[in-house]
Amino acid sequence: MDIEVLRRAPLFATLGDEVFAALTDELTEVDLSRGASVFREGDQGDQLYFIVSGKIKLGRTAPDGRENLLAVLGPGELFGEMALFDPSPRNATATAVSETRLAGLRHENLRKVIQSNPEVSAQLLQALARRLRRTNESLADLVFSDVPGRVAKALLDLADRFGRPATDGILVAHELTQEELAQLVGASRETVNKALAEFVQRGWLRLEARAVVILDIQRLRQRSR
Ligand code: CMP
Repeated sequence: MDIEVLRRAPLFATLGDEVFAALTDELTEVDLSRGASVFREGDQGDQLYFIVSGKIKLGRTAPDGRENLLAVLGPGELFGEMALFDPSPRNATATAVSETRLAGLRHENLRKVIQSNPEVSAQLLQALARRLRRTNESLADLVFSDVPGRVAKALLDLADRFGRPATDGILVAHELTQEELAQLVGASRETVNKALAEFVQRGWLRLEARAVVILDIQRLRQRSR
């Protein structure tokens, strides 16, 4: 398994080589194709997962079947750790949005590492605090921002994490369908399509299959405020 991406992750960056090697011995590899789920909301689970390559969406389903995406995570990020601190069923369904490789680690193994390396728990707390901050921001945006503003913000956030320079702008290969993008901003597909079409017409971006090229990041930023 290519564990270099994990070595660079903030959670492990402070670990000595020996502890890191002992930890990686415990990892199990999970390969997923697009659309395959690692676990579903409500499942019991005793493992957390690091993303080695690819992308994972975390989503929740309403009783009427509608879906909402909490986050899209990429290489170096982790999920499935909530039950480690607060034992309860999985809080969301984790599904691959592209070919994805994960490294699974049993909660008890991480617990052992935390006991001998308290700095790891500080990193985990920081990741949880960051997630809470993002969640608060999304909640405020749902109340205070219109759909085009939320779409602009979601694209900028995806660009921050997955963007790469292209000849005429920033290529953001987010791998999401327009339906998934709509689930991420909490709006209907029609409204999100309309917002995207307006941005294209203004020359702020170009649409590609499961990707966008941001052509005018300044204007998109202004629209996201
Ligand atoms: P767990 O409840 O074990 O399984 C679902 C996982 O989704 C959860 O752990 C977290 O790792 C992750 N998760 C839940 N809520 C959010 C959120 N708001 N943002 C990012 N990840 C989340």
